[in-house]
Amino acid sequence: MKKARLEIDQKKYDLNICEGTEGELGLDISTLREETGLIALDEGYQNTGSCKSAITFIDGENGILRYRGIPIEELAEKATFIETAYLLIFGKLPNKEELSKLSRLLTENSLINEEMLHFFDGIPPNAPPMAILSSMVNALSIYYPTFSEEDFFSITFELIVVRLLSKVRTLAAYSYKNSIGEPFVYPRHDLKYSENFLHMMFHSPVKPYKLNPDLVRALELLLILHADHEQNCSTSTVRLVGSSKVNLYTSICAGICALWGPLHGGANQQVIEMLDEIQQKGLSVKEVLQKAKTKDDDFVLYGFGHRVYKNYDPRANILKKTIEDLVKKITIDEPLVDIAMELEHAAMQDQYFIENNLYPNVDFYSGILYKAIGIPEDMFSVIFAIGRLPGWIAQWKEMYDTVPFKIGRPRQIYTGRKVRSYIPLEERE
Ligand code: ACO
Repeated sequence: MKKARLEIDQKKYDLNICEGTEGELGLDISTLREETGLIALDEGYQNTGSCKSAITFIDGENGILRYRGIPIEELAEKATFIETAYLLIFGKLPNKEELSKLSRLLTENSLINEEMLHFFDGIPPNAPPMAILSSMVNALSIYYPTFSEEDFFSITFELIVVRLLSKVRTLAAYSYKNSIGEPFVYPRHDLKYSENFLHMMFHSPVKPYKLNPDLVRALELLLILHADHEQNCSTSTVRLVGSSKVNLYTSICAGICALWGPLHGGANQQVIEMLDEIQQKGLSVKEVLQKAKTKDDDFVLYGFGHRVYKNYDPRANILKKTIEDLVKKITIDEPLVDIAMELEHAAMQDQYFIENNLYPNVDFYSGILYKAIGIPEDMFSVIFAIGRLPGWIAQWKEMYDTVPFKIGRPRQIYTGRKVRSYIPLEERE
């Protein structure tokens, strides 16, 4: 095993270096505090590995993303979302029997307990869909039994997986129907995963919804591209919350909350709002870039930059190509597409964006596709959450299986006041 030597006050310490299957190296500092009294400080976890994981590989310098070893480009072209979910969660592509069993279980578990539907009665019409979704997913632990450690390896885990994959889709569609004051549309047994979601979202008794295969495929693609992305903010949240051994529904609820933020999954909505604003106010691309570069302006160019990708995000590449192909077949908001392409082109020539390695990320183009499918802007992150579910589940299970098991508990460097006495109220200034 490779070692690294650390010297503090002329005293030398040897630390282990671990190596991943793709050759990436990590300094194992788990014994650092014990041996030296020091902790490792890395605000924002910019260079801290929180776990070893066999699920997703990213090479940010070379724009590579693979799920369980399979390049994202191949999955995007050939796989379904359900196959991808199986691959992430169970570590292998399903064979025919496994896939048909999974499809059957997804259908059988797509309904929501009718009692639980009363939750929707108290939700005001303009409630944020991510707030509804996270609350409802947590509420699943009220209506559907969770499991204890003893039955973890039994059928129960599989059942909880299908419940989550299937019911979250139903809940997401119901959140939308609730927000527009329309009756819920129940899932259909004869439709596939994405078809069923679009049916529940857009069908109404007075206006039947006709499925368009191009849009169904576009949704499948979006879900596949979002399915996992190793230790991002929401996934790390799922792992951390789950490490207290709370149930999977609640851990996923925490992940949805983390995903909601505009610096993470909420960025796709911000991108569309930004493109709309550029269009409506007639702003020039130059003005927008200037605003993004001005340090005392807190505006950032949403859909650009990434903690890990310092080269093109491969998911953005796939989405851009899909949009270029779809424009020829269906109605897409073309002025918005033009502005996005123009913005990307200008940013790629701009010194600031070049120097800071700021390339379009997955959220830059996903909003345009969501819009083309007919998804309203405040539902974008909800679709992202449906897509990210398999990743959260897979990462949660991997965390749960880790031996020796450790609750997630970072340390800190305290920078507050030194010890002092309590001052009675009457003596305070
Ligand atoms: N627009 C303008 N400036 C930016 C942007 C941006 N989109 N992104 C980063 N920068 C700046 C940073 O402020 C930083 O400047 P500084 O060195 O003067 O402080 C510099 O570029 C380098 O930034 P990084 O360290 O590479 O960024 P970090 O890893 O901390 O943050 C993040 C990554 C949050 C994604 C950031 O790029 C950002 O805010 N982007 C816009 C929001 C967005 O699109 N989020 C979606 C990410 S993908 C996903 O979650 C699915």
